[in-house]
Amino acid sequence: MALKKLVAGNWKMHGLSSDLAEIKAIADASGAYPGVDVALCVPAILIERASRAVPGFAIGGQDVHFAEKGAHTGCVSAQMLLDAGAVLTIVGHSERRDAQRESDAEVKSKAEAALSCGLQVILCIGESLEVREAGNAVETVIAQLAASLPAQSGGRLSVAYEPIWAIGTGKVPTVEEIGEMHAAIRRKLEDAFGQEGGDVRILYGGSVKASNAGEIFAVPDVDGALVGGASLKAADFIPIVGAAAESRPVEGARAIA
Ligand code: 13P
Repeated sequence: MALKKLVAGNWKMHGLSSDLAEIKAIADASGAYPGVDVALCVPAILIERASRAVPGFAIGGQDVHFAEKGAHTGCVSAQMLLDAGAVLTIVGHSERRDAQRESDAEVKSKAEAALSCGLQVILCIGESLEVREAGNAVETVIAQLAASLPAQSGGRLSVAYEPIWAIGTGKVPTVEEIGEMHAAIRRKLEDAFGQEGGDVRILYGGSVKASNAGEIFAVPDVDGALVGGASLKAADFIPIVGAAAESRPVEGARAIA
């Protein structure tokens, strides 16, 4: 048995009150796929309204501060996310690592703060095109993972491999490249967490669409997807959830407790 797949949407800086109907459409349609965990990470200001609109459906944040509270203008704590109804959060997305200059150490602190509050965490890692072309993608991503990993998985950690050059570009690594990276991530997780490292879901992100989701989900150690643009509309997102539901457990995959 493979791990239960997680298909999470990252709405980034998209979404107004008028989009609550789309969130409801996605939540309702996801109900047809109980074999897949589905989540939407929406702008912080929409979390409370979204979680009230779709009780029982997983709504998450896109970032969290590492401190419990304090003088951090414009920031949101893990407790605030929980209080608003979130059950998960993304940390370390490349858009934040880049634009907000977030370091691996900061990402690790954010993951630990969120896990210790009871949130699920999707920790993002991924290489630039320059690194990929230089042939250093695996070692670079594994070093980034090692430096960003929380001390414990808490049974609530997922890792999202998102090559920066594949985000929003329509470019996707080959299934061999995805397989090589996910296998290396799995080895690192098992080194760090022992047996529990086998139960951490490893998501792929970067230009996932209905047309490529099936082949990506068939790659060993791909336990789901983190989807940007194609998560904004139920018509684009639900077929990706459907592809996850149809993907068969692959030989050699691990069971989750
Ligand atoms: P796209 O699916 O739009 O390429 O975005 C991927 C992403 O960054 C998800 O976090």
